[in-house]
Amino acid sequence: MSIAVSAFSRRQATRYGLLAAVFFIATFLILQLYAPLSFNSDYNYNPSSSTKNLHIAVFATSSNYHLCQLQLSAGLLGYPAPILLNYGADEDKDEMKQHLAKIEGAIQYLDSLPASQQDDLVFMLDGFDIWFQLPHSYIVKRYYDVVKRSHQRHISTFGEALVKKHNIRNTVIFGPDKSCAPAGNDHSSCWAIPESWMEPLSFGPDTDHGRAMHNRPRWLNSGTVMGPARELKDVFERALEQNKHRHVTDSDQFYFSHVFGLQSYARRVHKFEDDRARGCDVAADQEFLLPADVDAKKKDIPKIKGERTEYHIGLDWSSDIFQTAGFYADYLTWIRHNSTSLYVQETAKEGNYHHHFSLPTDLIGNGPEPLSDAVDPALADWRNLPLATNTASRTVPPVIHINGKKGYRHLWWPRNWFYPYIEKMLESKRNTLSWDDELPKDMPALAGAWTFNNGQTDWVGFNETCGRWEDALMGKARPPGN
Ligand SMILES: *[C@@H]1O[C@H](CO)[C@@H](O)[C@H](O)[C@H]1NC(C)=O
Ligand SMILES: *[C@@H]1O[C@H](CO)[C@@H](O)[C@H](O)[C@H]1NC(C)=O
Repeated sequence: MSIAVSAFSRRQATRYGLLAAVFFIATFLILQLYAPLSFNSDYNYNPSSSTKNLHIAVFATSSNYHLCQLQLSAGLLGYPAPILLNYGADEDKDEMKQHLAKIEGAIQYLDSLPASQQDDLVFMLDGFDIWFQLPHSYIVKRYYDVVKRSHQRHISTFGEALVKKHNIRNTVIFGPDKSCAPAGNDHSSCWAIPESWMEPLSFGPDTDHGRAMHNRPRWLNSGTVMGPARELKDVFERALEQNKHRHVTDSDQFYFSHVFGLQSYARRVHKFEDDRARGCDVAADQEFLLPADVDAKKKDIPKIKGERTEYHIGLDWSSDIFQTAGFYADYLTWIRHNSTSLYVQETAKEGNYHHHFSLPTDLIGNGPEPLSDAVDPALADWRNLPLATNTASRTVPPVIHINGKKGYRHLWWPRNWFYPYIEKMLESKRNTLSWDDELPKDMPALAGAWTFNNGQTDWVGFNETCGRWEDALMGKARPPGN
């Protein structure tokens, strides 16, 4: 009898213990869930949010068919004329010098913007493997989405005090890559950088544990970058400094990644030092940041000697702005939402929930051409059009960057929603183009592009660079190299 009683009370004790544990775990989880919501409302974005003040600067020393893919997509979507950086400059045979010239040209351009435009947003991109899918207002809107989400993440990772103290923010946003290149895995730009913020199993059960295609994008791609002019200049200047002192590789991506790696390492060290000062157990962080046996860990530990490390660099981890295609091709598809919704409704009746894509909210109720009866009424609504969609993050990216397999520049071009309409759209838009002898500052991309070379600004008309490719671009002739 007494044995039964004590067994009962032991069971009771276990039950109370479990209840208490559940209570504490639930409280902890709730606190975790709500912590990121304490978004600081006084946070000041600085850069101007007006679409008009988005400068689009394209690295292109000369024109070719692929630059015309970019220019035509910009023209059809109503972009302002882009600025072609280093256009007409002689290409140095030495790749090292080419990368140097690229960075120097960018700094010269950023310097040339007057003080009143130093807070404007500048989007810098490579010219020969990128085109646009959505109007530039989406680039600006998604940029602020990413900046805001990064800030929330910093508050929950570092705490508000550290974020303030070290002015931690991501306002210079680079594209994401699924592999770390060209630095080796021991380099801080490969291991010290933040984790992706995509869902842990975004790419299936092998996510982050096998082939590059299953990696969540976590590494910096320097083909696309966007931020306020003055902050971009700081990053480019630091990258140039790096480039001049260490001729270790001929890729500009390495130099930007290096600045990002250093910044990321420093941010982790700030957190580590703060935790240690508060008496937390930091053994694991210490082993990660400064392992007892560095060689065995194969880590190149950055040495920070009091120089600036915070450059406000962050990535667009889920491709809300920049869709890089390298190792991503299997996770991109073109979805026409008007028919997909019907399909989903039908198949959902049989319990198939797998293909549930909904149009991102910022596209609902809009279309590329609000009053497009002249071309096709379908153009009034994004739902009617096949849109390149990232099936892992389920976003519809405004910018498509075909790094990796360059052949996709030919294969995917006809999949663009505008492809069947190119001729008609050109015709209807060109009727509205007009200007006098003096070129206005806000020329549209369909008229041409500004060029910037060695401090000199000039203008090159659309027909001059792209006239001869027009038939190929609309499928009436064979594109070059295909
Ligand atoms: C979706 O839009 C396209 C283009 O207007 C149209 O051809 C197609 O019939 C639409 N599909 C549905 C299911 O409404
Ligand atoms: C545009 O370019 C094409 C091909 O270079 C040329 O044949 C045509 O005359 C040009 N048109 C105009 C209006 O300049």
